[in-house]
Amino acid sequence: MPDTYILGIESSCDETAAAVVRSGEQVISNVVASQFATHAPYGGVVPELASREHLKAIIPVVRKALSDAGKTYESVDALAVTQGPGLAGALLVGISYAKALAFALSKPLIAVNHLEGHIHAVLLEERQQGNRELGFPVLALVVSGGHTHLYLAEHLGDSWSYRNIGKTRDDAAGEAFDKVAKLLGLGYPGGPVIDRLAAHGDPRAVKFAHSQIKHPDRRLGSSPGQKISNDDDAYGQRFDFSYSGIKTAVLRYLETHHMQSSIEARRSALAGNPKPEPENYLGLCDRPTLDLIASFQRTMIEDLISKTLAAARAYEVATVFVTGGVAANQELRQSFERKAAQEGLPVLFPSRPLSTDNAAMIAAAAYPKFLARDFAPMDFSAEAGLALH
Ligand code: KG4
Ligand code: ZN
Repeated sequence: MPDTYILGIESSCDETAAAVVRSGEQVISNVVASQFATHAPYGGVVPELASREHLKAIIPVVRKALSDAGKTYESVDALAVTQGPGLAGALLVGISYAKALAFALSKPLIAVNHLEGHIHAVLLEERQQGNRELGFPVLALVVSGGHTHLYLAEHLGDSWSYRNIGKTRDDAAGEAFDKVAKLLGLGYPGGPVIDRLAAHGDPRAVKFAHSQIKHPDRRLGSSPGQKISNDDDAYGQRFDFSYSGIKTAVLRYLETHHMQSSIEARRSALAGNPKPEPENYLGLCDRPTLDLIASFQRTMIEDLISKTLAAARAYEVATVFVTGGVAANQELRQSFERKAAQEGLPVLFPSRPLSTDNAAMIAAAAYPKFLARDFAPMDFSAEAGLALH
C-alpha cells in the first residue's frame, strides 16, 4: 500500500486547525490557530464570534499546513473534516471549505466524528512511537470542554466500533475547570491555568464531596473479575460522571470564606494584561486561593480516575486511553499512570499538542475510512449533536 497523505480540517469549537498525516501514523504538519484572545473577554466561547474567526483563519491555516508539509492541494490523497459534535456554525465553516476543496480538486472527502478523532489521537501517538501492539478491548476516556465520556473501542480489521458506557450527566470536566477558573477571576480557558497553579497549593486543604450518581447496584463492577455483560445497560449508569455540584461547592466556599474582593482585584488586574504569563497568575493568588485550586483539581482527578479504573475492571479491558483537552493536565497524567500501574493496566495519552483540539487526529481517524472507501456524500452537513458508535 503506497503512502496516503490526508489533509485534515477541524473547526468544531474555538480552534481552527489543519494538518497533514501520512497513512494514519505520522504527523507531517499540524497547525492550530487558537481564538483564545477573541473569547477571553467573555469568559467562554461565543458561537457567532467563533464562526467569524474560523472564516478568517481557515484559508491561511490550511495553506500553512500544506506548506509546512511540503505538499500542494493537488498532492494530498484525500480531505477529512470534522462533522460533529460541536458548534453548528463553526463546524459549517470547515465543512463548506472542505467540500469546496474536495469538489474543485476531485479528491475524496471523509467526514469524521470529533470524539473518534480524540480517540485516534492516542493511536496516532502510539504509532509514531513505534508501538503497534495494543491490547484490546480498549477503554477510552474522552475528557474535554464538551465531553466526559467513556467508550469501549474495538476494531475488526480497519473498521472501528465504539460503545458508550458512561458520560457526564451535566457539566463536562473541562467545563468545570473553565467555570471554576471564571469564578476565581482567572479568565478563559481555565484548565491550563488551574493546572499550573494547583502545584502551588495544598490539595488536601478543602474537602469536596465526590459526585454521587445513583445506580441500581453499587457493588457491581467494583471488584476484579466482576464482568458486566453487553446486556447490562442499566448498570452502565455506574460509570456516569457529574461535575456541576463541585462548581456550586466552590461558589459556596468563596462566599462563606469572603474571597470575593480578592477575586475582583485579580479579575481587574488580569483584564489589563492581554497575555498574562504563569508568574502573573501566581502573584495574584493568595494561599487560600491556591489551596482551593489544588483541592478542586485533586477532587476532579480522583473522580475521573476512580470511575475510569472501575469501568476498566468491570469490562476487563486490556488498555486505557485518556484523551481530550483535560488529558493535557499534568497531575491527571501522573496520577493516572501511577494508579493504573498499580492494577497492571497500561494507560496511554496523546502528546499534549494532540490532546487538545487539532486536525491531525481528524486526519488519523479518517485513514481507516479512506481504506474502506467510506467517503462522505457531497450533501452531508454539520451535526452539532453527532453521537459516536
Ligand atoms: O479537547 P478540547 O481542546 O476542546 C473540546 O473538544 O472541548 O478541550 C478543551 C478543554 C477546556 O475546557 C480546557 O480548559 C481544558 O480542555 N484543558 C485543560 C488543560 N488544557 C486544556 N484542563 C485541565 N488541565 C489542562 N492542562
Ligand atoms: Zn475536542
